[in-house]
Amino acid sequence: MSDAQVSKTCEANTSWRFDSSPRHMEDSSIPKQELDAVECINTGRSIKHYLENLNLSKNDLEKCDFILDIGSGIEQRFARDCKEMGIKATVVSIDPGILFPEKNDLRYLTSKDEITRRRTARNKPEKETVSAIAQHLPFKENSFDMVLALYSVPLYISQESDVSLSFTEILRVLKNDGQARIYPITKESKEIDDFIQQHKDITFDKVDNGVNPDSYLLIITKTKPLAPTS
Ligand SMILES: C[S@@+](CC[C@H](N)C(=O)[O-])C[C@H]1O[C@@H](n2cnc3c(N)ncnc32)[C@H](O)[C@@H]1O
Repeated sequence: MSDAQVSKTCEANTSWRFDSSPRHMEDSSIPKQELDAVECINTGRSIKHYLENLNLSKNDLEKCDFILDIGSGIEQRFARDCKEMGIKATVVSIDPGILFPEKNDLRYLTSKDEITRRRTARNKPEKETVSAIAQHLPFKENSFDMVLALYSVPLYISQESDVSLSFTEILRVLKNDGQARIYPITKESKEIDDFIQQHKDITFDKVDNGVNPDSYLLIITKTKPLAPTS
């Protein structure tokens, strides 16, 4: 698929190309209050972890044209691994972490190799990487075949209203036959249960992926267009 086709299908409100996506807080259109609330413990799990935790196979990814990785981590490791494995889908990574100063990001890293890898990834991001938050996804509705969130949202969202906002955004950008996979969700998350109750026309499956008995993997399948909001 050509770049022009990609932009057409997945046109963003703000540019979704990293080159023109802001890299510093002061240039970002994310409201300051919301950026201040972002927690940024930055990991870079490999595709192996994504497949295991999200109960996915390489074949599932190969069926997609567009995949969104929410809270990708600054290394955009999943997108890079997909490329390395020859998966043809366009993987768009979003993470607000890139907006924070490098020293914030590097402070948790201990090995030289990790630091070098993180620096390289910050300086040479994959081109489909956007500094954004899940509560405001800068993409058109019906853009993605699959939306993934691994150890990002809702884990790092503290406000209940922001959890429901980010789930609403996920449903909006999913294609009508698309699927979202989100892990982990703690079993007693009332706000998620409320959200599920309010969306009877969407299929929600709570799956035990065998990783943690207190959490589940949520698989959301959007089989119908969203009902218009009043
Ligand atoms: C623990 S890391 C997980 C990274 C990667 N998914 C992985 O599994 O290794 C959590 C990521 O979520 C991002 N994050 C925190 N709040 C977010 C939000 N509201 N929207 C999108 N990403 C967010 C952080 O910047 C951080 O990179």
